[in-house]
Amino acid sequence: MHIDRYERLFLYAAVALLVVFMGALAVSSFAYGIRVPTATERVDPRTVATPPSPWGEPVENRLRELSPGNYEVYILAQMWQFTPATITVPKGSRVTFYVTSKDVQHGFKLAGTNINMMALPGEVARLTATFDTPGTYNFICHEYCGALHHTMYGQLVVEE
Ligand code: CUA
Repeated sequence: MHIDRYERLFLYAAVALLVVFMGALAVSSFAYGIRVPTATERVDPRTVATPPSPWGEPVENRLRELSPGNYEVYILAQMWQFTPATITVPKGSRVTFYVTSKDVQHGFKLAGTNINMMALPGEVARLTATFDTPGTYNFICHEYCGALHHTMYGQLVVEE
């Protein structure tokens, strides 16, 4: 079968691009550990806000220090607030966020980090970040969730 020289070159280029994209995907996931935030656990949205669910604990118990500088925080999204809405950790902390919703679809984006996930009823979203720079990091709901969607936000304060 005769294939025109230029057509063959385009075919080679297309295959080469596919190889490059597959390589980039492999490097980002295996070498850098970048992963798409997917549900890590299922919960019942009807009971998620009551003990023994960690999202049913009093707000002061939602941030837990597992080992020095290593925290986890359980954030519940609901119309139209995050609980807890203020989180304070010392500089250098490594924080794992567990976010779920008890009513409708919400979002959780923490400015200045790569934490950006959906908060869906029944599913737990989890991501980890390390905070080496002191300051205030705002988090917002970025999925439209009703009339007061724009008032749904909170802050992570990293202390010196
Ligand atoms: Cu919650 Cu928008």
